Amino acid sequence: MNLDFSQIVPYIPFMLKGIWVTLKFVIFSISIGLLLGTILALCKITKLSFLKWLADAYTSIFRGTPLILQLMIIYYAVPQLIGYDISAFLSAVLAFGLNSSAYVSEIIRAGILAVDRGQVEAAQALGVPYQKMMVHIILPQALKNILPALMNEFITLTKESAIVSVIGYLDLMRRAEIVGAKIYRNFEPLLFAGIIYWVMVFILTQIGKRIERRMRQSD
Ligand code: ARG
Repeated sequence: MNLDFSQIVPYIPFMLKGIWVTLKFVIFSISIGLLLGTILALCKITKLSFLKWLADAYTSIFRGTPLILQLMIIYYAVPQLIGYDISAFLSAVLAFGLNSSAYVSEIIRAGILAVDRGQVEAAQALGVPYQKMMVHIILPQALKNILPALMNEFITLTKESAIVSVIGYLDLMRRAEIVGAKIYRNFEPLLFAGIIYWVMVFILTQIGKRIERRMRQSD
């Protein structure tokens, strides 16, 4: 067996720095995904058919094509149209944020629709305006259906973040590849990166479980 973990020791700080690099753009992407996803979800449940069509088309495109393709279009192809470069960080935030919003919009739409119809009818019977009804009555209840699925989406995004290495962004994955090329051994750095990804996902899973338990208590 040809394994020698002592060789990656000098590169551990370099790889550990990748955790923050990864987390930084994942956090930004999640925020964009949440914001845009909520807006898209609201478009999907309105009676305005044009908005509905637009949101559905958006979702179809971003879920129907590979994320890696969207990322490469933003990083390599869009600069050709606009005449200046987009940094790897911004490309990553945009690609993952726009992609995630498509998934988030479906999660939120389903969560809202799962709230009992009687809640809407009661609010309307009492003359509560649409916006107030949404913010104070429907969305707080929908949150309960939405949170576990949303947590799943964050986990997917964290794992999927490894593909930014294709545009040269120095995330955890890219760093492991670089170390592998430097020391001519790939198993050790890749295993190291794998363990870190697993720990990150494990922490997110635990947070998700805790939130779910909290919500069950309030039932
Ligand atoms: N591997 C899938 C793709 O390339 C994952 C997309 C991201 N998934 C997500 N839930 N945000 O399209």
